[in-house]
Amino acid sequence: ILKLFVALAFGYFLGSLNTAVIVGKIYGTDIRFHGSNSAGLTNTLRVLGKPAAVFVLIGDILKGTIACFIGLLLGVYFYSGEAMDSLSLLAAGAGAIIGHNWPIYFKFKGGKGALTAVAVLFMIDWIMGLLCLVFFVIIIALTRYVSLGTIGATTLIAVISFIPIFEHTLYFNIFVCLMALIIIIKHRENIQRLLSGTENKLTF
Ligand code: G3P
Repeated sequence: ILKLFVALAFGYFLGSLNTAVIVGKIYGTDIRFHGSNSAGLTNTLRVLGKPAAVFVLIGDILKGTIACFIGLLLGVYFYSGEAMDSLSLLAAGAGAIIGHNWPIYFKFKGGKGALTAVAVLFMIDWIMGLLCLVFFVIIIALTRYVSLGTIGATTLIAVISFIPIFEHTLYFNIFVCLMALIIIIKHRENIQRLLSGTENKLTF
């Protein structure tokens, strides 16, 4: 159990390094008060442009990946022969997503967790990560709504994770359901805009 707390805390402190806020500060602005007010890749692209977005892309993928890697190491190092050992990987990944969305260093006002979630999914189960990315790209290509792509892809992953052929543990199913729930909660305003037809479309 202690191992899980350590993994969760490590993931959280790493995930709290919100790249969009940091890059925004380098550009002399606070991304959380511009565009959609979200400290994530989409809003950085919208407000600060492509070079800034590339840094956010790399930073958010890196922190999700590193958090999971540490979670994995903790699981291996403290291996006790129990099925619960894989939980430290899930705990570190969950911590990274929570930290990105509610960062301790930036007054708990962060992003919406999509990119970090995809990176974490890739580390836990690359097939699920790849499927999530494919759903994401297809929905955005069809609708031009990044928010709909994020909500749709993560919800679909939560649903298909229950298909027996993937042989997921109940822990993984709970993890992806919580991940999708967090992402939906974080997209409340986007959902309202989607319903009223005022959501921003992706343009280049
Ligand atoms: O990943 C965030 C995306 O789904 C929506 O971002 O800035 O349009 O609210 P934004």
